[in-house]
Amino acid sequence: MKKKADEKPKVVVLRWGHRHRDQRLTSHVALTARALGASGFILADMTDPKVKETIDKVTDSWGGDFLFEMGQPWKKVVKDWRKNNGVTVHLTAYGENIQTSDVMKRVRAAGKDVLVIVGSQKVPAGFFSESVSDFNVAVGNQPHSECSSVAVFLDRFFEGKELSEDFLGNTKKKIVPQARGKRVVEV
Ligand SMILES: C[S@@+](CC[C@H](N)C(=O)[O-])C[C@H]1O[C@@H](n2cnc3c(N)ncnc32)[C@H](O)[C@@H]1O
Repeated sequence: MKKKADEKPKVVVLRWGHRHRDQRLTSHVALTARALGASGFILADMTDPKVKETIDKVTDSWGGDFLFEMGQPWKKVVKDWRKNNGVTVHLTAYGENIQTSDVMKRVRAAGKDVLVIVGSQKVPAGFFSESVSDFNVAVGNQPHSECSSVAVFLDRFFEGKELSEDFLGNTKKKIVPQARGKRVVEV
C-alpha cells in the first residue's frame, strides 16, 4: 500500500560493514543521513558506542528526532522493513545510474518508506539480488564513498527540500546563516 498524498515517506539508512578503525567514516555517514533528511540510521551487525555517542550528541544539540540503532542483523532489518511495506534501495556504483535512468522516478513512484543500504568494503553478492534490494542505484558509475552516495541520493529523493528544513524537537542551538562569520543562537 502506498502512503497517502500528504504523508511523507520516511528514509532510514542501513550501514553494513563498519570497521572500528573507520569509526569516523560511519559517524559521517550517519551525520550526513541526519542532515539531509533521513529519519534514522542503523549500524548493522555490530555495535560501536563511540559512533552512537557522536550522533546522539549532535542530535541533542542541534535538534530533530533522529533514530540511531545498532547491532541488528542486516537480514532481519531488511526482512522487517519489507514486512512493514517499505522498499529497499542498495547504493552501488554498479546499479542503475541516478541521472541517466528513471530509477529515482520508480523509487518515488513506489510511494513507500525507503531503507537505503550502503556498504563499506565489498558487500555480499546477495545485496544486488531481488531478495535484498528492490532497486540498485548508482550515484554515477564510478566508485566513490558511502558518504557522498548517501548525500546525493537523499538530495535527489527529497529534491533539495531537506536543506531548508528546520530541525524541530529538542533543539538547543541553531545556526543563523550569513555571508560571513559564525552566528549561533540558543533556542
Ligand atoms: C568505498 S565503497 C566500496 C567499494 C567496494 N570496493 C565495492 O566494490 O563495492 C563503499 C560504499 O559506497 C557506496 N558507493 C560507492 N560508490 C558509489 C556509487 N557510485 N554509487 C552508489 N553508491 C556508491 C556503496 O554503498 C559502497 O558499498
